Amino acid sequence: MTQAMFPHLMAPLDLGRTVLRNRLYMGSMHTRIDMQDQPARRMAAFYGERAKGGVAVIVTGGCSPNEEGLIEPGAPMLVNEEQLHEHKPVTDEVHEHGGKILLQLLHAGRNGKIDALVDRRSTRACRERCRPKRSNARWKTSCAARGWPSRAATTAWKSWARRVT
Ligand SMILES: Cc1cc2nc3c(=O)[nH]c(=O)nc-3n(C[C@H](O)[C@H](O)[C@H](O)COP(=O)(O)O)c2cc1C
Repeated sequence: MTQAMFPHLMAPLDLGRTVLRNRLYMGSMHTRIDMQDQPARRMAAFYGERAKGGVAVIVTGGCSPNEEGLIEPGAPMLVNEEQLHEHKPVTDEVHEHGGKILLQLLHAGRNGKIDALVDRRSTRACRERCRPKRSNARWKTSCAARGWPSRAATTAWKSWARRVT
């Protein structure tokens, strides 16, 4: 039935640099698993189960590139290359079961549930209490604030993405 309705769903997809085993994709969801103790172990178990179930690509919940971009206090951040190693058990587990996984870098902007919201617009997001501080900062500026040359940061993430996908 599914095969008749979606004949390509379970067919491999050649993306050139990599081949997906099928077209099943898990969208990004902030689950708060990574805010509990032993986050890497828990995430490895959680995403590993999805890979075991046959999903071709998993996108993690949003991980902020800085404090101002947090979705909520205590949410995950990725601000330097050393932190990439903390994700290794997760990627290893997913790869072990034939899946691929992408880390979503997400600046929550005015949707964050933190006090110091920053966004390109100063209007409040629907459902949110706080009005963001208007910022014209671009990614480049935020890298500079962290003491990173933006090109180096981008290159580091790109090369990491190449290793894990
Ligand atoms: C609890 C929850 C957490 C989510 N976290 C993220 C997130 O971290 N990043 C993101 O891009 N989308 C996030 N989303 C949005 C989902 O990825 C998805 O786009 C949304 O649920 C709509 O999907 P649907 O059209 O299949 O219902 C989240 C959604 C839910 C319900």
